[in-house]
Order: sequence, then C-alpha cells, then structure tokens
Amino acid sequence: MEQLGPGDPRQVAQYRISARLGAGGMGLVYLARSPGGRSVAVKVVRADLARDPEFRIRFAREVEAAKRVSGVFTAPVIDADPNADPPWLATGYVPGPSLTSAVAEFGPLPEDSVRMLVAGLAEALVAIHRAGLVHRDLKPSNVLLAVDGPKVIDFGIAKALENTVLTMAGSAIGSPGFMSPEQVTGGAVTFATDIFALGAVLVFAATGRSPFGTGPTPALLYRVPRRCPAEGSTIPSTPPPLLRAGTSCTRTRRPHPFPAGSSTSPPPTAPTCARTSPPSARPRPSTTGR
Ligand SMILES: Nc1ncnc2c1ncn2[C@@H]1O[C@H](COP(=O)(O)OP(=O)(O)OP(=O)(O)O)[C@@H](O)[C@H]1O
Ligand SMILES: [Mg+2]
Repeated sequence: MEQLGPGDPRQVAQYRISARLGAGGMGLVYLARSPGGRSVAVKVVRADLARDPEFRIRFAREVEAAKRVSGVFTAPVIDADPNADPPWLATGYVPGPSLTSAVAEFGPLPEDSVRMLVAGLAEALVAIHRAGLVHRDLKPSNVLLAVDGPKVIDFGIAKALENTVLTMAGSAIGSPGFMSPEQVTGGAVTFATDIFALGAVLVFAATGRSPFGTGPTPALLYRVPRRCPAEGSTIPSTPPPLLRAGTSCTRTRRPHPFPAGSSTSPPPTAPTCARTSPPSARPRPSTTGR
C-alpha cells in the first residue's frame, strides 16, 4: 500500500480514496471507503484503454457478468461505471497479501496450507463458472490470502482486454507462466482453461516457482503449449501428491469439478517440445501425460 500522489484521485463516484494498493495491466487500484464505511478496492482504468470504445463495451459486459458471481472464496464485485471518465470497478477490499507476496516473503506454503488454498480456489472456480464466466487470468497476484481463506479477484475482466492489448506495445496482460496453452495459441477458452491455471497456481504455492519458470515472455510462450516444465518445478521436497494434483490440471485432458453437461471440452492437442530445446525444457513423463 502506498500514499496517494498528486496525480491520484481523492474521490471516485461515491468512494473516498485513501491509498494506492497497486498497479496492474488495466490500471491503478486504490483503497477506498463507501459512504456507509465499507472498505473497497477501486480499479481505475488506464486512460489509453478508456479511450477505446470497444474496450468500454467489453468492460461493461464482463463487469455485469462478474456481478453475478457470489461465493465465499471470491471478492464481490460491488459497483462499477464503465461509462465514467475513466471507467472504474469497485470490489470488496480483502485485507491480506496476495499469494505472490506471501510466497516472496515466506517461501512455499506448507502442504496443509496448499491443500486448503486449492480447495478454496476450486470452490471459487465453481462459483465463477456457475455464473457462466471463465476467469481467464487466475494467477498468484489474483489470489488474496485473507484470514478466512483465499479470495479470488479479477474474474472475467481480462476478457475486456482481448484484441486491445495485443496491439499495444509494452502492455502485456496476464502472466504467461500461468496462461493455458489454448490461450497462448489462440485456441478456444473454456472452463478447462481455469483448471490449467489452478494447477499452475498449486505448483507455485507448493514450490515457490511457476511450473513453466520465469524469464522473457517469448521463452514462456514457447514452453507453455509444449508442456516444457521449468528447471526446478519439481523440487524433491515437494510432496508428490501435490505435484501430481498440480500436473494433472496442466494436461491436455484436465479434471473438472463441474456437473455433467457443462461445457468443458478439452483444449486442442499440444505441440511437443522441439528437439533443440535445452535438456531442462524437455517434457518429463510426469507433466506431459493427457
Ligand atoms: N479486492 C482487493 N482487495 C485488496 N487488494 C486488492 C484488491 N484488488 C486488487 N488488489 C491489489 O491491487 C494491486 C493491483 O491489482 P491488479 O489486479 O491491478 O494487478 P495485478 O493482479 O498484479 O495485475 P493484472 O492487471 O495482470 O491483474 C494488487 O497488489 C492487488 O493485490
Ligand atoms: Mg489482478
């Protein structure tokens, strides 16, 4: 959390801004208070996106869908104005660090905590999918750790950025290390897309590393569709059941906790790692099955 600077707003609609929580691909996020005293996080959209009328239409549509999500492990979407200048979105403030910050500060989570985390995230995905939404950007920075469990944020709104950001230099959205192969290759995004990200988040929580490593975006975008695990993504101290659960979610055919008949068609078959890949980037049997 940072103090407000001279360029930061003091008020957004009826919300009184008190501090800056951070910045992401869509804009800045502020801590604010509603007239009734509720703490909220107000995401204020970047000026260049706000100027794009197509973005506003998509943003309005995705925010409406996100408002229908209700669950114990999702931060509620409370209010939004896609027509404001700039557009904004208010969600319930979650007091607690993101999974990214928690792992950076304390290292990988203990096994019991990983199990509780993943159970909460799976329940959050059920609530999101029940509302007809695919999260599309489940990753450690979109998981906040509150005392009563994890809270998923930013569900669905990444869709508003589609066709917008790809054409804008220096404004990559999302973390390629947690994107599914079908997102990287432009395939159909389904509920199963979020299951891939769930597995990647599980591996991150248990090992402290993304399953596809870090590094330049092109390197990650190469590894993900080929299921090429990063060096060290299977460290010996990680409990095998956790890694098995994580890697089962990142296969082509993924488990899904949804009722029969829901649209969870598997994503297209993945290409394989090229022979020229360095040894650490070659697929291993434990992570490349279907
Ligand atoms: N509801 C909330 N409660 C508490 N903190 C929040 C909430 N929503 C967002 N934040 C915080 O605001 C900061 C910026 O969030 P933002 O979603 O813009 O960035 P990001 O997740 O890192 O990137 P991306 O744009 O790819 O999602 C993060 O540190 C996040 O933890
Ligand atoms: Mg976010």
